[in-house]
Amino acid sequence: MIDRNYDEYKEIIDSHLMDFIPNIDNKSISLYESMKYSLTAGGKRLRPVLLLASCEFAGGNIRDAIPYACAMEYIHTYSLIHDDLPAMDNDDLRRGLPTNHKVYGDAIAILAGDGLLTCAFEAISKDMMLFYDEPEKIKKRVNAAYEIVKGSGVRGMVAGQVSDIESENTMASKEMLEYIHLNKTGALIRSAVKAGLYLGSPEGTMISDLEKYSENLGIAYQIADDIMDVIGNPEEMGKAAGSDIKKHKNTYTSIMGLEAAKKRLDELTEKAVEAIEKYYDNAEFFRNLVLELAKRTK
Ligand code: IPE
Ligand code: IPE
Ligand code: MG
Ligand code: MG
Ligand code: MG
Repeated sequence: MIDRNYDEYKEIIDSHLMDFIPNIDNKSISLYESMKYSLTAGGKRLRPVLLLASCEFAGGNIRDAIPYACAMEYIHTYSLIHDDLPAMDNDDLRRGLPTNHKVYGDAIAILAGDGLLTCAFEAISKDMMLFYDEPEKIKKRVNAAYEIVKGSGVRGMVAGQVSDIESENTMASKEMLEYIHLNKTGALIRSAVKAGLYLGSPEGTMISDLEKYSENLGIAYQIADDIMDVIGNPEEMGKAAGSDIKKHKNTYTSIMGLEAAKKRLDELTEKAVEAIEKYYDNAEFFRNLVLELAKRTK
């Protein structure tokens, strides 16, 4: 049962976010500082919030989910550091501050990303080691870890980023565009939801229903981001507007136009809501989250 709101989950994440970043020796101080810089710069914490909420939704205890939720935010933050690099989107502003490479240089930014990715799997594997002798508990954790690995890598976010980069300066089909969005952004969102469920005790069709919800939310989230790149206010977003146009990216707005992109966002929002209809008020948290997202672009 979910009895917290978004900000309450976010506060929990923010208060634990540095727990699994090892305090490394003096020789690697710039690595530690650059990881901390991007992690603590802010951010909506969507993925870890979804993970904690999904865990509670499936009857789990969020204390068990904290290492996995932090791991999701480490992976997401690493993806942003790399996404901003000159060789990728070449952006100067992120979470309201200069991008990581603008402060620490490209080499340290690349390594900070690598560091965060490995901290994620250190947090997860260290947690698993506590439950060697408890098969039921270890099973939940292995399932959650697998979802996170799958969404982060060559079956998910990394694959989506490759297609995003390779389709710059081309005209992608709608299928390709959906593939890019589902992978570069949707995959981590789906992982967060599924990992959270596995850490609880999901029943019946909960996993497949919430999977449908999260896939629609994931594409919708990236469409909203594409729309805000056109109509958003950089100060509110904490990052530049117009970045996609400058890089000749394939986005829903560049391919379909602004109005059609907004319509597609509404359709996906509706589909996400439909996927969780049978949970009535119990799924109010998830329903509100996707409805609020669409409102941000109005
Ligand atoms: C930015 O993600 C990249 C996308 C996938 C759209 P967020 O909009 O969740 O960024 P933060 O974490 O709040 O900075
Ligand atoms: C990024 O998409 C998705 C990631 C995997 C980081 P964008 O390139 O549109 O994200 P922003 O606009 O830079 O945040
Ligand atoms: Mg990008
Ligand atoms: Mg970008
Ligand atoms: Mg964007």
